[in-house]
Amino acid sequence: MSALLEVRGLAKRFATRAGREQSPWIIQGLSFSVNEGEFLTIIGPSGGGKTTLLNMIAQIDCATDGEIRFQSNVAPVNDMKSLKPGLDCQIGYVTQEDNLLPWRTCLDNVLFPLQVQGKLNDETKARAQSLIRAVGLAGWENHYPHELSGGMRKRTSLIRTLVYDPPVILMDEPFGALDAQTRLQLQDDLMRLWNLGKKTIVFITHDISEAIALGDRTIVLTRQPSAVAGEHAITIPRPRDIRGIMTHPEFIELYNRIRAQVQ
Ligand SMILES: Nc1ncnc2c1ncn2[C@@H]1O[C@H](COP(=O)(O)OP(=O)(O)OP(=O)(O)O)[C@@H](O)[C@H]1O
Ligand SMILES: [Mg+2]
Repeated sequence: MSALLEVRGLAKRFATRAGREQSPWIIQGLSFSVNEGEFLTIIGPSGGGKTTLLNMIAQIDCATDGEIRFQSNVAPVNDMKSLKPGLDCQIGYVTQEDNLLPWRTCLDNVLFPLQVQGKLNDETKARAQSLIRAVGLAGWENHYPHELSGGMRKRTSLIRTLVYDPPVILMDEPFGALDAQTRLQLQDDLMRLWNLGKKTIVFITHDISEAIALGDRTIVLTRQPSAVAGEHAITIPRPRDIRGIMTHPEFIELYNRIRAQVQ
């Protein structure tokens, strides 16, 4: 496998409002790579800089130092004007909040990126419909976000990113706010969808179990300033039974190893 995405010596701090001072380093000396088709999970403490990291990979924010390389594209450093948000739709981003447009129905939210990219046609519409069915939203297409449950909104937000088929998808604690049952269902849905397309996924979570259940590999981040505290290959065979995986011997061993590192 070859690295599709490389992060080398990444560092970030923010300018304060007055613009004269700088915040402390949020991220410093952060290096890792993501292989093509890999499902990488990242665990880190709250406020550690996980969203900041994804924002920099998605090129909606700039690194202060270091390098982020996607194929041959190197993200600009300290130069907000040269950013290419989403790298011409090559990097999909399921943000921590679902960010659905309240005045658009579920279906129209899913179709929105296709419309913006001028790619709305019979084929992409059919793809949207098939994704809607795949995550159990059939019958809800014409409902507005406020009429959907939290889990349904998350599903809508997930397929809104899958529909335009970006090779890399960044996911920022997408199932964090959901109840345990809905969360398991969505993890299951995500596994099935990932198996169909074998996208490259970078998935942020607080939850050690989720990181192990979903990932091919997991990276544990330190407290601020964030760097890599440890890296663990997860070789539990696929397809995985999300609900029964906790009893797998490798799961238990990994869980204990990662927990020791997180604390
Ligand atoms: N635009 C900004 N300006 C100044 N400081 C910021 C900005 N965005 C984030 N920060 C600071 O950077 C740190 C990391 O924030 P970030 O949102 O990346 O953390 P996180 O790991 O995603 O947290 P959580 O797990 O709670 O989502 C925090 O201390 C936050 O206050
Ligand atoms: Mg965050």
